[in-house]
Amino acid sequence: MSAPLIEAFELTKQFGSVQALTGLTFRVMPGEIYGLLGPNGAGKTTTIKLINGLVDATSGSVTVDGFDPTKNPIEVKSRIGYVAEKPILYDSLSTRDFLEFVASIRKIEEITATRIVTQLADAFGMEKYFDAPIATLSMGMKQKVALIASLVHQPPVLLLDEPLSGLDAKSSRLVKDLILLHTQKGGAVLFSTHIMEVAEHLCTRIGIIYQGKIVAEGTLDQLKNKTGNKNETLEDLFLKLTNEETEVADKTRILGDVFFKNEAA
Ligand SMILES: Nc1ncnc2c1ncn2[C@@H]1O[C@H](COP(=O)(O)OP(=O)(O)OP(=O)(O)O)[C@@H](O)[C@H]1O
Ligand SMILES: [Mg+2]
Repeated sequence: MSAPLIEAFELTKQFGSVQALTGLTFRVMPGEIYGLLGPNGAGKTTTIKLINGLVDATSGSVTVDGFDPTKNPIEVKSRIGYVAEKPILYDSLSTRDFLEFVASIRKIEEITATRIVTQLADAFGMEKYFDAPIATLSMGMKQKVALIASLVHQPPVLLLDEPLSGLDAKSSRLVKDLILLHTQKGGAVLFSTHIMEVAEHLCTRIGIIYQGKIVAEGTLDQLKNKTGNKNETLEDLFLKLTNEETEVADKTRILGDVFFKNEAA
């Protein structure tokens, strides 16, 4: 059996008085698309940052292809393609200059970099914006630039923090296809999302994260078996597992009062 590309064990992270992660354990194998689903503030971004070495764990361990991000940051970064929740791009550079800059940091030969960047830009329909300053691009276009930048060095692991946010239908489809192709070649993808249908259709496994730990994990069928009701959607299941089902019903009642009761008065 092959070794995991990502392995997190009993991770905890404390930000001052906030306990963001409370003992998070999971692994992602080559060929897997692992979706992290969780309410706002559950710890998805913190988990992704810990794997990438952008934040240090308070306790527990994490490895990428066997390397520890705190001890071997270069090995880890060279294996990861990362798209942040809010990608940081250099607004004053053009897309072309920015991608060339990324390729040079990654020490990729110019000919190879130009070929990969051109193909990706073509696929995402970004060639016509290549010489425009990044500052002038729309939100979705910036997201595409961040995605292209994450793929330039052809890493085995993709860490994508809500990769579809801001993308139009065509580009979302493209990203989903890209994720599938990446894993068919033996790579691994870990992504966070709030879009249930994406998780349902794309992930080989889903981890539901709540208050800093994985509270349920498995294929869609395995998760559905947990509640014993095959007719439940992933959304039903998610709300149940994160104790938000009753809360949503209460809040909907409050909204109903705000919108309709006042009219009757
Ligand atoms: N740098 C920080 N300093 C202090 N608290 C932080 C910091 N980063 C995250 N947190 C806290 O850690 C918890 C987890 O945050 P995180 O960003 O990981 O959640 P998330 O699951 O990605 O949420 P969302 O769905 O809104 O993106 C939250 O309570 C958040 O306020
Ligand atoms: Mg987040």
